[in-house]
Amino acid sequence: MAEGSWIRRMFEEGAVLKQRYGEENVFDLSLGNPVMEPPPEFHQELKKLAEHPIPGMHRYMPNAGYAETRVAVAEQLSLETSIKFVMNDIVMTCGAAGALNVVLKTILNQGDEVIIFAPYFVEYLNYVDNHGGVARILPADEQFMPKLDVLEANIGAKTKAVIINSPNNPTGVVYREDLLHQLGEILNKKEAQYGTQIFLISDEAYRKIIYDELKYPSPLRHHRQAIIVTSHSKDLALPGERIGYIAIHPDCSRRDELVDGFIFCNRILGYVNAPALMQRLVRHLQSITVSVAEYQRKRDFLYNHLTNVGYSVVKPQGAFYMFPKSPLEDDVAFVRELQQLKVLTVPGRGFGAPGHFRIAYCVDDQTLECSVAGFKKAAQKFGPS
Ligand SMILES: Cc1ncc(COP(=O)(O)O)c(C=O)c1O
Repeated sequence: MAEGSWIRRMFEEGAVLKQRYGEENVFDLSLGNPVMEPPPEFHQELKKLAEHPIPGMHRYMPNAGYAETRVAVAEQLSLETSIKFVMNDIVMTCGAAGALNVVLKTILNQGDEVIIFAPYFVEYLNYVDNHGGVARILPADEQFMPKLDVLEANIGAKTKAVIINSPNNPTGVVYREDLLHQLGEILNKKEAQYGTQIFLISDEAYRKIIYDELKYPSPLRHHRQAIIVTSHSKDLALPGERIGYIAIHPDCSRRDELVDGFIFCNRILGYVNAPALMQRLVRHLQSITVSVAEYQRKRDFLYNHLTNVGYSVVKPQGAFYMFPKSPLEDDVAFVRELQQLKVLTVPGRGFGAPGHFRIAYCVDDQTLECSVAGFKKAAQKFGPS
């Protein structure tokens, strides 16, 4: 708990500051809680259902979810990836977090290794641990891309999965097609060498929040033993509603057995099924996303300000995070300095990457605009990063 709670700790210290100085005088960029409301289509669908309830709509259902919702997800994914998904490739879950836990519970035996690249979404470590796995953490390069030679050297007979997250939390980087291709080739080679199945778990929670008119490079086009875990927490701004899904590559070996495992684990981990009402709604919203242009505008504003005052930042191409270098070697000390200036961020060591700090810019414009004075003062005090 002590190790993995930097975001929480910053959030709680921020709450004390807000009490002392007033909510409007503290600029909280510590949490990835989307500022945007769900798109209008969400409320239209909600109203339709409230006004015309469907008999039985609050009852138990199959643990994989409603067939109509699974079909809608499969159709949208087929469009996006040019890979033909069908209903049986999809299991509806309680968010991406639920999806990850269900997948790990299904595939891991005690002591199996799961490779994770730093900086990482810190809950991965807890989820792997939940299901008896061992997290093997590998470094990324200066641009936050996985180091493939290090990956190759670290895959062994016990490697059961590699988790990737693009667009990435905390860095915002998007993995290029050529990198995914090479990664897929390494996994294929190692599977042949050890006679194992190595799953590529693609955490796509931010897949639709992608900038500069990039088309999302799907990892599934480069490895067949691949599983998507994702949700509508960010793309429809519904994190409190806990709605997401697992999608397995249709050509994955032992696909049917794996899907049966997902359905079973969704049940026995106590999720039972993804929320019924949300399944009914997102069925109609598969091609809808919150305003990505809004997030891109916020990214541009912050990136320009930070780089102008001397921060070294890899320009994010998706999600709503930035991960600048800390001007002080000690990222915790720097985050505390920012706290003194009423700007709340999270030290990089909370993501396995000391020497950086994370900014979540999914906040209103006023908070963002007011935060830049603090960033500037800190840069003036400590010099460029
Ligand atoms: C990279 C990543 N994966 C998974 C999740 C969990 O998402 P959900 O709210 O859908 O469970 C988050 C949430 O912030 C995330 O940043």
